[in-house]
Amino acid sequence: MNPLDYRQWPTTSKSIYGSIKLGPIPRPSSILITGMGGSGIVGDVLRDYLGGRIPIHVVKDLTVPDWVDASTLTIAISYSGNTSETICSSLRARERGSAVIGVTTGGIMASEFRRLGIQVVQVPTATAPRFGFPQLLYAALSIIDDAVGVNGKEVEESIAAQEEALRDVSLAEYVGEQLLGAVPYIFIDSRVQGVAVRFKNDLNENAKTPAIVAPIPEADHNDIVTLMMRHSVKHVLIKAGPNPVMEAVESVFADFSADPVKLELKGDGLLAKELYGITLLGMATLHMAEKLGVDPVRTDPIDLLKKRLG
Ligand code: F6R
Repeated sequence: MNPLDYRQWPTTSKSIYGSIKLGPIPRPSSILITGMGGSGIVGDVLRDYLGGRIPIHVVKDLTVPDWVDASTLTIAISYSGNTSETICSSLRARERGSAVIGVTTGGIMASEFRRLGIQVVQVPTATAPRFGFPQLLYAALSIIDDAVGVNGKEVEESIAAQEEALRDVSLAEYVGEQLLGAVPYIFIDSRVQGVAVRFKNDLNENAKTPAIVAPIPEADHNDIVTLMMRHSVKHVLIKAGPNPVMEAVESVFADFSADPVKLELKGDGLLAKELYGITLLGMATLHMAEKLGVDPVRTDPIDLLKKRLG
């Protein structure tokens, strides 16, 4: 495993959060976060964490909803700054009157946004977009902190949770070992579903492995029926603290002789649990890549597709 980027995550998170200086941001009544893949996942995590306090809408597309207006703050996240969906959707949001702030390492987003007078937060580079997750996430959190306020203690706890995950490297390797050669079928407490989305993306990109995400309770009404037949999947059950529905699901798994890999997310709050899970499971996928003999960094089909799309 080459966990080098992961070892830097807590330091990167600390250095980004709070160090970002922005011009005035009008107080929004909703937040739209647009971004794809390793950048877009920031939206999923922030919706899990803050969606109960302020409406957060995540866009992974070229367009934005018709309700977007001057009361919406748009955070456009593209690690490379060259992703057409993110640039198009953020410019659409701007046309609708929304304040837009870009988060990127450079590219067209940095140059074009600045030319248009749009604020840009420029973050440091990483080995690949997904490994730059802390800089993208904590930059977006800083923006939201400026706009509507964020609980600083919860942010600190989320950085401590990354350190905790780095100490649990043997657990990460165990999880990775269990999933080799199977399609992981990830059942997750929907309060932290960003962890499963990120895990699926890391399985795809790092370990070149397909995966299925099944958020509970919705999965209780469809995915769970697949327990009635044998499939070449390996079930994963991700828990985030006490939840009677998760316990019921676990008991049904046992009744159908399914033997899931179980993971209880550590951490004091929702954001901490997300960061623990994302760090630990990311390392699990690097371990899988090593065992499978694949290069975790290369994503040739994505690169080819981006070239074709121009
Ligand atoms: C992750 C990855 C992709 C990109 C996605 C969007 O490492 O390579 O998922 O994140 O193609 O590109 P960016 O992040 O540059 O906007």
